[in-house]
Amino acid sequence: MSNEPSKLASAPAKDDAELPRIAYPKNLVGQPALVTGANSGIGKATAIGLAKAGADVVINYVTHPEAAEDVAQEITAFGGRAITIQADVSKEDDVLSMFAKAIAHFGTLHIVVSNAGLQRDSPFEQMTLEQWNTVIGINLTGQFLCTREAAREFKKRGVDDKVSVAAGKIICMSSVHQEIPWAGHANYAASKGGVMLLMKSIAQELAPYKIRVNSVGPGAIRTPINTAAWSTPEAYAELMTLVPYKRIGEPDDIARAIAWLASDAADYVTGATLFVDGGMTLYPGFATGG
Ligand code: BGC
Repeated sequence: MSNEPSKLASAPAKDDAELPRIAYPKNLVGQPALVTGANSGIGKATAIGLAKAGADVVINYVTHPEAAEDVAQEITAFGGRAITIQADVSKEDDVLSMFAKAIAHFGTLHIVVSNAGLQRDSPFEQMTLEQWNTVIGINLTGQFLCTREAAREFKKRGVDDKVSVAAGKIICMSSVHQEIPWAGHANYAASKGGVMLLMKSIAQELAPYKIRVNSVGPGAIRTPINTAAWSTPEAYAELMTLVPYKRIGEPDDIARAIAWLASDAADYVTGATLFVDGGMTLYPGFATGG
């Protein structure tokens, strides 16, 4: 055994398939789950992960219906149940009708993962109002609309102790950038800072109804949102200077954290952000400086 830092430090990105497989505990049976933005990236992995844990899954998407169908097929292939519903989470009518369809299909919802998000990066003084509004509209207003519908359904139904000790679980997709300022991405960082206090405020308000509300804060995860940060060896090496654990995150790293937060194993956890970031929030520059 050596105390040298991992040789993986400068190794190129590994394939998701090469990472150790960890089985999902089957502890979400009978708990329909809705995942927004579930046709790619973290949302896709989450839909599949929750289904592996036994949940019936609603796969929300806004574009690329065929990608959403592929996720549904992957789930039905291993015996899970899934439907796809198109909705733009920044539009109230879309969100209302998505929740109505989901509840009509599965009877209720127990888990809502408010995941849909995007980036429209720009140096600040060149940032357009459209870039600002698009990011705030999807990443923050979208989470308001979806978590509000989740809260309405969970509160109306209350606890069904045959399936969970809580009346419902909301998981918001945040980011390390709810905490780490990010030059060139002011709209995105502002949206995630907003998600942090949206999540905490509604966690406080809904806890007496046995509704748990938490966030996951991913670091750099191998998804289409940040291809430029990991797809070349040079970019990957640069990225690793920000990641003490010296590997990029995989979508399934996030999905497993979400499945745990959604389960009764996390029953006393509410109002928390679980950073899943390989240590990105640990001020890696201070490992040698300061
Ligand atoms: C962003 C990614 C970025 C990561 C770490 C995420 O929230 O969407 O683009 O790589 O944070 O900076």
